[in-house]
Amino acid sequence: MTSPNTAKQIANVMNETRVFPPSAEFSSRAAIGSTDAYQALYDESIADPEKFWDGQAKSHLHWFEPYTQCLEWSEPFAKWFVGGKTNVSYNCLDAHVRAGRGDRVAFFWEGEPGDKRTITYAQLLEDVSRFAAALDRLGIRKGDRVSIYMPMVPELPVAMLACARIGAIHSVIFGGFSAEAIADRNNDAQAKLIITSDGGWRRGKVLHLKQTVDEALAKSPSVQHCVVLQRVNNNSPMTDGRDVWWHDLVSKESSNFPAVPLDSEDSLFILYTSGSTGKPKGIRHTMGGYNLYAKRTFQWVFDYRDEDIFWCTADCGWITGHSYIVYGPLSAGATQVLYEGAPNWPEEDRFWDIIERYKVSILYTAPTAIRAFIKWGDHHVDKHDLSSLRLLGSVGEGINPEAWMWYYEKIGGGRCPIVDTWWQTETGGIMMSPLPGAIACKPGSCTRPMPGIVPRILHSDLTDVGTNEGGMLCIEKPWPGMLRGIWGDDQRYQEAYWSKVPHMYLTGDNSRRDEDGYYWIMGRIDDVINVSGHRLSTIEIESALVSHPSVAEAAAVGRPDEIKGQGIAVFVTLKNHEPSDAMRDELKKHVRKEIGALAVPDEVRFTTALPKTRSGKIMRRLLRDIAAGKESAQDTSTLEDFSVLAKLRSDEES
Ligand code: WTA
Repeated sequence: MTSPNTAKQIANVMNETRVFPPSAEFSSRAAIGSTDAYQALYDESIADPEKFWDGQAKSHLHWFEPYTQCLEWSEPFAKWFVGGKTNVSYNCLDAHVRAGRGDRVAFFWEGEPGDKRTITYAQLLEDVSRFAAALDRLGIRKGDRVSIYMPMVPELPVAMLACARIGAIHSVIFGGFSAEAIADRNNDAQAKLIITSDGGWRRGKVLHLKQTVDEALAKSPSVQHCVVLQRVNNNSPMTDGRDVWWHDLVSKESSNFPAVPLDSEDSLFILYTSGSTGKPKGIRHTMGGYNLYAKRTFQWVFDYRDEDIFWCTADCGWITGHSYIVYGPLSAGATQVLYEGAPNWPEEDRFWDIIERYKVSILYTAPTAIRAFIKWGDHHVDKHDLSSLRLLGSVGEGINPEAWMWYYEKIGGGRCPIVDTWWQTETGGIMMSPLPGAIACKPGSCTRPMPGIVPRILHSDLTDVGTNEGGMLCIEKPWPGMLRGIWGDDQRYQEAYWSKVPHMYLTGDNSRRDEDGYYWIMGRIDDVINVSGHRLSTIEIESALVSHPSVAEAAAVGRPDEIKGQGIAVFVTLKNHEPSDAMRDELKKHVRKEIGALAVPDEVRFTTALPKTRSGKIMRRLLRDIAAGKESAQDTSTLEDFSVLAKLRSDEES
């Protein structure tokens, strides 16, 4: 192990050679406490994956009726635990209460204004049962789709679990999305119900969620009812016959609503994510396999013990919140912190304050947040006692070694391993990460695969890459947490993930494997930009721009951004208008309205024509270089002329 110090070493990503093994003390207490133990588990898991997962499913999930077959694989369609009956909300709630652990705290919740609630497993079971009964009374049946658009309040996991309890399929829509984006998702899923709240708190201000939902519902004919949680008391207008208050609804229900035995392959949820083409993809996950994979990866990666307090700072609107706030930790009976608001409200030390007060022992956050903390300054951290922390995690994008070192030293006090977890909405759970008691960390590497996961890296000619050579990351064998498809579009599922490379799942990421068998993720191979750990497709942003009447053509590319990882630069040709700052602002507003604040371009550049290859493809590589190289360009409203450059490059790229 080399010493973790000079700035020069930190900046040199490609030559990162530092290795950080867990302390002997950490390993001795860990469930999997040595490289040999990890290797034995891994070898067993891939020698006979079905036998391995069969053993896992039998010991870690409750089955109302046993399954008859572990895996039915008809590429690319997998069925896990075929014929088995289970219930995810039973596994997350009833199982613990029946085992006498109902008094254990499930959530220490804190609202942004400082309001607090402590919710035990017994209480959560009652709340979920009552809401499940209410859904049933509203006529929601197994297989119906329910959109959920809520702030990070306990009722958000309650709504998800209540859907799971009756077999309704939830589609959680992140609270930052616009009315247009909500309507698109409602329509694609043909949602029958939407659950929202009057509002939520963010950076001291009220977000009027119900108002956005009202706009969306004007364009969502399938939605019959809207359940509204009262959170901010902003006198949201209610539409008679359609809208109903959460509190009115549950007040009529009893807390005894048994979990319905559901098929292992019934759908649990749809979660929309960006792909490289067209509209967002509704990634579909099912009951048994997903539940098992979320639970076991949570236990393996976070080495969770009864005395731990786990805090995942993600929003339930993303897959991280689904798998590592709701389904993984709750099935494992974990105690968690749940926080509604922003990390910099009222001050930039809110996270450290929360960790100190709740004695959080495991923190799971994103590189974009870590980079913001670094920028805000160490004095915010220094004010607080973070000695309760024993393990740190990172997710959403690659963590650069500089941020890794800061996280390790400043937050972890040099004693906490960092689990850099690589996975995707599609994979359902973590695919690669150090098991913290067993695998030494290297800053910037997600290290080794989970049990049962077999990664392969291929050149574009489908030959295997050599050591330290980059290529397309694929997964060889089906695993229980894998997506079962794209909602309503089997063909797109097949094309996006199973056609370019035969007989393997194509992740869409590039990767290399080093001489120690460690994996390093090298970014996306498709036209997806990763902004603050959230996937946005360039196509969606471009479509939003060209829907503006003045825009003729648009191209969106990622550019480096100190805090967000990637920012968005767009190149726009206008129809009959002169470029102006006012037009630039208008286009930003337009994207905000069409998609949401997340997708607002950091930079809008006007051009007479977009540079294209002879076959008509936009030369994104050229635009990316330009966007990266001219970050400080002052006057973005001037017109750029790419024609000469384009001519020069077109031979090369066509
Ligand atoms: C990227 C988030 C490097 C990657 C769980 C992946 C990462 C996409 C990491 C999925 C990581 C996620 N290191 N890159 N630890 N974690 N990514 O679907 O490009 O929102 O394909 O799932 O994020 O994003 P998604």
